[in-house]
Amino acid sequence: MKHDEFWTWFDSEAAPKLALREISFRKVFSYLDSLDGPLTIVETGCARAQGNWAGDGQSSVLFDRYLRASPEGSTGFAIDLDPQATTLCKTLVSERIAVLTGDSVAVLIDVAGQLKAAGRSIDLLYLDSYDVDWTNTTPSAVHHLKELVSIVGALRADTMVVVDDAPSTCRVVGNANSQFDMISLPAIGGKGTYVAEYAKQIGATPMFSHYQAGWTGMVR
Ligand SMILES: C[S@@+](CC[C@H](N)C(=O)[O-])C[C@H]1O[C@@H](n2cnc3c(N)ncnc32)[C@H](O)[C@@H]1O
Repeated sequence: MKHDEFWTWFDSEAAPKLALREISFRKVFSYLDSLDGPLTIVETGCARAQGNWAGDGQSSVLFDRYLRASPEGSTGFAIDLDPQATTLCKTLVSERIAVLTGDSVAVLIDVAGQLKAAGRSIDLLYLDSYDVDWTNTTPSAVHHLKELVSIVGALRADTMVVVDDAPSTCRVVGNANSQFDMISLPAIGGKGTYVAEYAKQIGATPMFSHYQAGWTGMVR
């Protein structure tokens, strides 16, 4: 019932500003609606600027809203290397989200340990840290694969894993009509390049591929 309040807010306040991420955030929250009990959301790369909806996504604000509309005990973790970002983020979210400062690859191991000790696991893992350089995506893409490695012990088969800034790329050639012919299938790129390769290799279930990409079945 309380999720109705979230969707009313999402449709009126967030969706009109989310641009490329609207379609996939809708899919994320619709998926979470289908899960029972207190929810756990873990994200890397917190909201670092108030009101930057189209540029960054305001993920922490969205997750906080959703958790506040979820059953008692629903909680989140937001991890960021930059103390200025975490200080700002703390002003944007409620006590439902623990905002942690540090390198995500290391901090996620601690978060996995805390969750295990509490008998909990993750419903949504959202990876959006190390900014991607679109002329050399490898350092960011490797970092996001390392994040997955650090937290994999806290995932379930039905955990949704989402990577931001992961549009697909393909090779194209110009044809005689001044249009482009695709000469390769689109492959998820950006921050999601190696997470997508791993997901494909283990037979994870692709849930969507837009500007953000999402899977379930990252563990069996
Ligand atoms: C694109 S922003 C996150 C935007 C946020 N998800 C939103 O929707 O508003 C990326 C963030 O990742 C952080 N970051 C970069 N490297 C990191 C690392 N190694 N560990 C944790 N955070 C990192 C940056 O400080 C930055 O705040």
